[in-house]
Amino acid sequence: MRVLLLCSEYEGLIKTGGLADACRGIAQGLVDAGHQVTVLLPQYTNLYSRPTGEWHSVYFHLGGRPLGCAVRQLAQASQGGVDIRLLEHHDFFHRERPYDDGDQGYADNPLRFAFFCKAALEWCRQYLPDVDLIHGHDWQTAVTAAYLKQHYAQDPVLGRVPFVFTIHNGAYQLTAGAEWFGKLELAQQQDHFLNMLEQGIRYAAKVNTVSQGYRDELLSEPAANGLARLYQQRQADFVGILNGCDYQQWDPATDLTLIRNFDSTDLSGKAACKQQLKARFHLPAADVPLMVAVSRITGQKGYDYLIPALRQFLLQSPVQVFIVGSGEQHYCRQLYQLQEDFPAQFRFFEGFDETLAHQTEAAGDFFLMPSLFEPCGLNQLYSLKYGAVPLVRLTGGLRDTVVPWPDQAATGIGFSDVSIAALLSALQQAEQLYLQQPAYRAVQLRGMQQNFSWQSSVQSYIQLYQQALTEQFSRS
Ligand code: ADP
Ligand code: GLC
Repeated sequence: MRVLLLCSEYEGLIKTGGLADACRGIAQGLVDAGHQVTVLLPQYTNLYSRPTGEWHSVYFHLGGRPLGCAVRQLAQASQGGVDIRLLEHHDFFHRERPYDDGDQGYADNPLRFAFFCKAALEWCRQYLPDVDLIHGHDWQTAVTAAYLKQHYAQDPVLGRVPFVFTIHNGAYQLTAGAEWFGKLELAQQQDHFLNMLEQGIRYAAKVNTVSQGYRDELLSEPAANGLARLYQQRQADFVGILNGCDYQQWDPATDLTLIRNFDSTDLSGKAACKQQLKARFHLPAADVPLMVAVSRITGQKGYDYLIPALRQFLLQSPVQVFIVGSGEQHYCRQLYQLQEDFPAQFRFFEGFDETLAHQTEAAGDFFLMPSLFEPCGLNQLYSLKYGAVPLVRLTGGLRDTVVPWPDQAATGIGFSDVSIAALLSALQQAEQLYLQQPAYRAVQLRGMQQNFSWQSSVQSYIQLYQQALTEQFSRS
């Protein structure tokens, strides 16, 4: 099968979160399973320095405006057999950050990403005519589904190509005023505004999200953020496919960022990693549990109740906590305050640092993930592998991947209520577990032995593609 994968992030090229990891995992997994994959993504500022080869120019009209771009092939080395193309449009994409200026989303995001979708289709029909299927990810690629149906139904290439749409996060929808339907040449329903994500759900041949648990949550409000009725309408074509973990990148036995490697048969390297992280961030060497988090600092990740819960917990317990992340400033300020109030116990590193993310997973005894919602979550998968026992709120993909203590098969600590009291009691449970070393070790080792490789996820994607193709074929 020849697949065109449209995405706005790709691990190793541009990343703001797990979307990048997932797009790469899927593309690489498909290639490993013998399929041909072309990935198309915008050429952001950091990608201008990459060597490129073959290129094409593409011209078209959108909303009555003549537009154009170049599509450049990234030099093949180190891309694992995945054909990567960068879509260059200076005004729209020559920006440091993909979606926002560090504070606010760019005002022209609807146009930027509708342009990306339209340009992708124009490029595809001219230069990838043997494509079998297009697979888009999140709101940034969603209007591709509408364009395929509304602009290209009679096109000899695109008229027979189904679009599969993956929702990595249903809370990011990108809405814009109703005038945008006309500006972007999209058929208007009765809606008072344009919802980009909704366009993908409505018009894609098949829709999936990244865990079964989150898929079921999206069938009702408030999890669906206003789209429950549409998810219900598409229920027969809407499935959950769990993300995988790329063990080439995330394996403490081979991870080059660690001062010492380790695996479940010998954890002495993990102790060295913990010691190194503590020394680097000037945390006292005391033998106490180290709880860590690596995350986008947003409401989704539970900071509204994590910060007050930690404040109480640190007063009561001699544990240490290290958080690395970047995002909303009001939370960052509270994290700096926590650091000032608990200088021997709490550290916050503000920034996006992939090396530190690996080192933090390796150092942690526990990994904190009290998300309000979590479509899949990759960090808990990395934590399991790195022996940082995940402490999670049992929601979405977290519930699907972590078995909470004291279950016989426990791989982590779990709780359900979004409340300071429930989180505090989970933190206390973690501390108690750590004190009972044989029990803690059993949970940790069981976690390290889990296997969430991309292989089985990719098999499910292939099945979904095949269904989309069969249904498309029987319609035409
Ligand atoms: P989400 O996609 O909602 O952010 P995931 O758990 O699926 O959550 O994936 C997060 C990914 O982003 C992981 O690969 C994690 O290591 C990475 N990440 C998040 N914040 C940072 C950061 N500040 N520095 C480095 N990597 C980060
Ligand atoms: C989103 C979700 C996260 C998921 C990731 C990759 O950013 O928040 O739960 O793991 O996408 O699918």
